[in-house]
Amino acid sequence: PPGSILLGIESSCDETGAGLVRLGGPGEGPELLGHELASSSDQHARFGGVVPEIASRAHLESMTGTVRSAFAKAGVRPADVDAVAVTCGPGLAGALLVGLAAAKAYAAAWDVPLFGVNHLAGHVAADTLEHGPLPSPTLALLVSGGHTILLRVDDLAGSITQIGTTVDDAAGEAYDKVARLLGLGYPGGPVIDALAADGDPAAIAFPRGLTGPRDARYDFSFSGLKTSVARYVESSERSGRAVRIPDVCASFQEAVADVLTAKTVRAAADLGISTVVVAGGVAANGRLRALAAERCAAAGLTLRVPRPGLCTDNGAMIAALGAHVAAAGAVPSSALLSGDPALPV
Ligand code: KG4
Ligand code: ZN
Repeated sequence: PPGSILLGIESSCDETGAGLVRLGGPGEGPELLGHELASSSDQHARFGGVVPEIASRAHLESMTGTVRSAFAKAGVRPADVDAVAVTCGPGLAGALLVGLAAAKAYAAAWDVPLFGVNHLAGHVAADTLEHGPLPSPTLALLVSGGHTILLRVDDLAGSITQIGTTVDDAAGEAYDKVARLLGLGYPGGPVIDALAADGDPAAIAFPRGLTGPRDARYDFSFSGLKTSVARYVESSERSGRAVRIPDVCASFQEAVADVLTAKTVRAAADLGISTVVVAGGVAANGRLRALAAERCAAAGLTLRVPRPGLCTDNGAMIAALGAHVAAAGAVPSSALLSGDPALPV
C-alpha cells in the first residue's frame, strides 16, 4: 500500500547499490528516500573492463556498509522496511549472487517479502522516481554497458516488449572499447564525454551503423564504428599526423548519439507512441541527452531522462521497480530465488 517502504539492492556488475523508496499514492511514482553506491570500477581500470571475480569480491566487502549507509541517508530504520527488491538478472553470475544472498538474508531477518526484479526494467523504472508514473505505452531506449535496446513499455511491472537491439556491441561497450584504444581507461563513457567538450563533432566522419534503407529499422550496430575509430588512429599514427583526441571523442560521440536518437524518434513515430524515456548508463551522456531533447522536441515527443546519477547502475532504480511490482500485486519470490545472467527483459 502507499507509504510502504522498500529496500532495493543492486549488484549485477561493478556497482554495489542500495536504495530506499516510499510507495506513492494513486497517480504518483515511488519517492526516493536515499541511496548509496560503492563502485569497484577503479579496480577494473587497468584491465580495460570488468573482471567478474574482482567485482564479486568487492560486492561482498561493501554490501553491508552500503546498505547501512543508505539507511542513514534516507533517515529510515530497518524496522521500517516493508519489502526488499533485488536484481536477479541479467548480469554477472557471481556478482548477482552476492546481492541475492544479502537480500534474502534481510528479508528473512525482517520477515518481509522479497521481490526479484529485472535490471533492465529497473533502469527504466529509475525515471519514475523523478518524473512519476510512465504513460502507457512509453518507448524506452535503454543504453548501457551490456545492452542497447528499444522497448515498448505498456506496464513496468509486467508488459515490456523489445522492438530493437544491437546486433553486436552495446553503446556503452563501444564507449569503453574506444576509450581503451585511446588509452583513456575504464569506464570510457565519462572520460570521452568530458574530452568531447573540447572537440569538433564534425572533425571526422565516422560511420552510422545500420542506417541504410534496407537495414533493420530499430536495430543498432556499433562494432563497425569502433573499428573505424581504431583505423583512423592507426592511419594517423602511421602517417605521422597527430591525433586530436578531443576531436576523435566528439566525432565518435556524435555518431553514437545520432544513430540512437534517429532510430528512437523513428520508432516512436512508427508505433504512435508520444513519450520517450532514455535510460541506462549511456543516458548520462551530455551529447545524447542534448540531441534527444532536440529531436524529440522537433518530433512533438515528450522526452524523459533520469538525472545522470540515476542513469548508471544504482539501488534506487531496483527499489523503484520493486515498488511498481509490489503495487501491481505480484507474488513475492521464494527464498530459492536464483540469479539468471541472461534474464530477458
Ligand atoms: O547502466 P550501467 O551503469 O551498467 C550496465 O548495466 O551496463 O552502464 C555502464 C556504461 C559503461 O559502458 C559506461 O562507459 C557508460 O555506461 N557511461 C557513459 C557515461 N557514463 C557511463 N557513456 C557515455 N557517457 C557517459 N557520461
Ligand atoms: Zn545497468
